[in-house]
Amino acid sequence: MSNLKLSTYISEENIQKKVKELGQAISAKYKGKDLVAVCILKGSFVFFSDLIRHIDSDVQCEFFGVSSYHGGMSSSGEVKVTLDLAHPIEGKDVLLVEDIVDTGLTMNYLKAAMLSRKPKSLITVTLLEKPDALKVPCEVDYVGFKIKNDFVVGYGLDYQGLYRNLPYIAQVQSLN
Ligand code: IMP
Repeated sequence: MSNLKLSTYISEENIQKKVKELGQAISAKYKGKDLVAVCILKGSFVFFSDLIRHIDSDVQCEFFGVSSYHGGMSSSGEVKVTLDLAHPIEGKDVLLVEDIVDTGLTMNYLKAAMLSRKPKSLITVTLLEKPDALKVPCEVDYVGFKIKNDFVVGYGLDYQGLYRNLPYIAQVQSLN
């Protein structure tokens, strides 16, 4: 067992309400269109699985793995691809689904990686964004919650591989 102390940061109820709103907004934008939703692993798999169930279009799911934190609490700035898309996205309407934008480096890398494959369109959604932590300008089409520069876990987000299974988002309170 970990000795990390956690406190609720965003409740399960508030997350679910927000995810539904995001799904409805994305559905309205993609009305009547087929969509490729790209889940960025590992952090966004929980958000992704809830979000796609609120999208009212034909959705094809793709998975793209990156690693940028290397298990710690600060971003390395380096992005390593751990899993590539299984199918081409050329000519498709693509929705990129991220868990959190911190420095913005990963999101910008991901956008460039997707655009290099020539989709018909690309829009981005992140559940969380830390505006005060941005190191580079980073535009995201849909943002669930803007949060302070705090390290958070749960709902897919981890600390050293743990806590992804929490149904809410928690702040790491103290280490002993
Ligand atoms: P960025 O490149 O600094 O924007 O980092 C983005 C990635 O870092 C995210 O996809 C997460 O995997 C991870 N990350 C950033 N902030 C946190 C956090 O507060 N908790 C857990 N992971 C985080």
